[in-house]
Amino acid sequence: MQRLKIGILGLGMIFEETYAPCLQALMDQALSVRGAGLIEVELVAVGSLTGKRWPALSQRFPWLQRVKHYQGESAHEALLSHELDLICIATPDHCHFAPALQALKAGVHVLLEKPSVLALDQCDQLCEASEANRALAKVVYHKLFDPDHQRLRTLVHDQVLRHVNVGYCTLLEPKHISRSQFAPWIRGRNPATYVGIHYIKLIHFTFFQNSEARLSWVQAEGQRGQVGDAEGPTWDAVQLRMGYTYPDGREAIFDIHTSWVHPDNAPGYVDQEVQFRFDNGVWNADQRRRGVEVTVEDADPKCFKSTPNHHYNADLLAPHGQRSRRGYGLEVIRQAFQEAAYLQYGGPVSQKEQRFQELSALSYNDLRADRPCVGVVQALEAILDYHAQGQPHGFVWVNHPQGGLVLGFPGKQDLIPLYEPNV
Ligand SMILES: NC(=O)c1ccc[n+]([C@@H]2O[C@H](COP(=O)([O-])OP(=O)(O)OC[C@H]3O[C@@H](n4cnc5c(N)ncnc54)[C@H](OP(=O)(O)O)[C@@H]3O)[C@@H](O)[C@H]2O)c1
Repeated sequence: MQRLKIGILGLGMIFEETYAPCLQALMDQALSVRGAGLIEVELVAVGSLTGKRWPALSQRFPWLQRVKHYQGESAHEALLSHELDLICIATPDHCHFAPALQALKAGVHVLLEKPSVLALDQCDQLCEASEANRALAKVVYHKLFDPDHQRLRTLVHDQVLRHVNVGYCTLLEPKHISRSQFAPWIRGRNPATYVGIHYIKLIHFTFFQNSEARLSWVQAEGQRGQVGDAEGPTWDAVQLRMGYTYPDGREAIFDIHTSWVHPDNAPGYVDQEVQFRFDNGVWNADQRRRGVEVTVEDADPKCFKSTPNHHYNADLLAPHGQRSRRGYGLEVIRQAFQEAAYLQYGGPVSQKEQRFQELSALSYNDLRADRPCVGVVQALEAILDYHAQGQPHGFVWVNHPQGGLVLGFPGKQDLIPLYEPNV
């Protein structure tokens, strides 16, 4: 049987919650790939910074003991010394670019955890390397696989819900994420880049990917003082606002509120809620009200969530007896493996270029289609940086006569260019 050989950089929370269970499931059932039949996925090597999580991980997933593990700043180079088809990059938000560029230049397909990269010039360099080396550059946006969000998209696509004009999204992460899980890399970071990006992409992909409406501005405010100093560069909560303009001049405005200082014993896995209002309807979704509420005596919500999101990731015992971990968090990764395997093995080498074009056109995960989302992240990061340096209330215009991203402040005439080409 043919094999898709992969490497994974980063062995943190997302590796444990999604990559490892996805790979475990693939051991029982190989990928079934169009034009290629069954393809095995082989995890060849993994890398992390300190290696501190490796002993516990390889105990929890004993099959990892057969996999080569590297640690240190240059773990990605060691990974790339193997013959890989695909590398998954699941390092902290600001550590995606360098290993991704090196992999693409070596002709290895890349699967990036969200947020893909934090600035448009990085995105441009990765897209160029992807084109030049015919290597896929893809991003994991698991919320697009959430059945509720797929249903929303279906209703929008079929024009049952018409002309979105207002949206409100919130995602609140428990304190232990900022205080312990991400403590090694939390300084200078904010929850909007980390999780707000899910909604930035959901909004762009669901409502505007094929629309004539354009992203026109980005605004952000935030609070500090719990995760870091009250005047420092690390943010507890962020309120991001972005505006789109339709060709007739009407606007659609979206507020995305994120935090990583929510109580650890809140009942949900994370607290998530969205509302989208249309000319002819409204969509409300609250993750805590998906229909399941479970109470177990003596089980605190810190360790046993009482309003779980089983759609994302759950251990399930199927009626036919098979036990597995499933959910959209895993499906999105499996689909990316499927696409890489299709490119490698889904037909004659002479038609590989056609397959590359076909896969690059998939706007849900291709890096080229991620540019507007990266633009919002770059704007947001700049607004927060200036705020931390004593200049609050920044506002970024998108595709302004003076540049693709241009930062301004109330009462100040001068504009600061952040990115020149059109976004
Ligand atoms: N799809 C989602 O919804 C979702 C959910 C969570 C996270 N994410 C994304 O996934 C990425 C990782 O998040 P996480 O929650 O897994 O973070 P995490 O728990 O903090 O783990 C980060 C991992 O990256 C490793 N690492 C750090 N710097 C590195 C470097 N320079 N070279 C190699 N490895 C390095 C760390 O090594 P050590 O083990 O040695 O510390 C650790 O294994 C982030 O971009 C995050 O936004 C996505």
